[in-house]
Amino acid sequence: MLRTRFTETFGIEHPIVQGGMMWVGRAELVAAVANAGALGFLTALTQPTPDALRAEIAKVRDLTDKPFGVNLTILPSINPPPYQEYAEAIIDSGVKLVETAGSNPEPFLPAYREAGIKVLHKCTSVRHALKAQTIGVDGVSIDGFECAGHPGEDDVPGLVLIPAAARALTIPIIASGGIADARGLVAALALGADGVNMGTRFLCTEESPVHRKVKEQIVAHTERSTQMIFRTMHNSARVADNEISRKVVEIEKAGGKFEDVRELVAGARGRRVFEEGDLDAGIWSAGQAQGLIEDIPTCAELISRMVAEAEQLINSRLASFVA
Ligand SMILES: Cc1cc2nc3c(=O)[nH]c(=O)nc-3n(C[C@H](O)[C@H](O)[C@H](O)COP(=O)(O)O)c2cc1C
Repeated sequence: MLRTRFTETFGIEHPIVQGGMMWVGRAELVAAVANAGALGFLTALTQPTPDALRAEIAKVRDLTDKPFGVNLTILPSINPPPYQEYAEAIIDSGVKLVETAGSNPEPFLPAYREAGIKVLHKCTSVRHALKAQTIGVDGVSIDGFECAGHPGEDDVPGLVLIPAAARALTIPIIASGGIADARGLVAALALGADGVNMGTRFLCTEESPVHRKVKEQIVAHTERSTQMIFRTMHNSARVADNEISRKVVEIEKAGGKFEDVRELVAGARGRRVFEEGDLDAGIWSAGQAQGLIEDIPTCAELISRMVAEAEQLINSRLASFVA
C-alpha cells in the first residue's frame, strides 16, 4: 500500500488518477479504474447533453461501488456548452469528486462545496496552482510540458514543475504528464507529489473505449512521436504525430492562422480516429509517455503492477542507496 495525503484526502486506495479525456473518459474506463482502486474521472463534455451525463454517471454506478469523479473542462469557446447545467448534473447525481480544468474554477466552487464535493484542479503552472489553493480547491494536478493535451505556454517539464509546486503549496499535489509506470510514480513522490495523474497510459488500456489500432499505434510510437500544435496561437496542444498534426504545424510555421487549420483540427475528425481507428483522420491527444508504453493491460493489471513495482523500487532500489 502506498499512503499519501492524496489517498487520505480523497478517500482513494492508490495514489493514481485517470484524468479527464475527451471521447475516452466514459463509464467503462472510469469504472475499471475505480474497481482497481484508483480515481477515474468521467469527461463531462464527452456526453452531448447534461442529461446524457446523468445517464453516464448512473452507468458507472452500475459497474462499480467505488468512488469516482467527473471532469468538467472549461475552455473559452465561441459557442460554449452549458457548463452550469453540466455542473448541476454532477451535483444532482451525488458525485463527490470533480476535476476542474481549462480555466479558473472559482465560479463553480461555492456550489461544489455546498454539495460536499472535493475538487482537484488541473493546471500547468505553479502560479495557477497557488491561485487554485487560495480559492479553496482540495488538491491540484499539475501538468508538465511532457503531457498530452494542453501543457500551457511555459514549457516547464515535471522534473522542475513538481518540486517547484511542492515547495510553494500546502494542499495535495498530483504530478501529471509523462508518467506511465512505477518509475514515474516513485519519481513523482520523490519530487514532492502525493500521487500521479495519467492520460496517455490509460488511453492504452483494455477498457479504454477507443479503436484497437489507436492502442497499437501508442505501443509502436516512441517518446518522439508527438507534435505541438497551436503554438503560434498561444494555445499549445501536444498531440500524436500523424499526417494531420504535421500538416497543422507546417501551416502554422508558414504563417497560417486558425482559419487555415480549422477544418483539419475539427473535433469530429479526431473522434473518427478513436471510433474507426483511422489514425490519420484527424488530431488526437497523446503525450511523450507513449515512449514508455509497451503493452495494452487491463486497468487492474496496470494499477496493481504500478503499485507493486513502486513498492519494490522504494524498498529495494532506493533503500539500497542509503549507506
Ligand atoms: C485523448 C486525451 C484526451 C484528453 N482530454 C482532456 C480533457 O478533455 N480535459 C482535460 O482536462 N484533460 C484532457 N486530457 C489530458 C489528461 O487528462 C492528462 O492531464 C494528460 O494526459 C497527462 O499527460 P500524459 O498523457 O502524459 O499522462 C486528455 C488527454 C488525452 C490523452
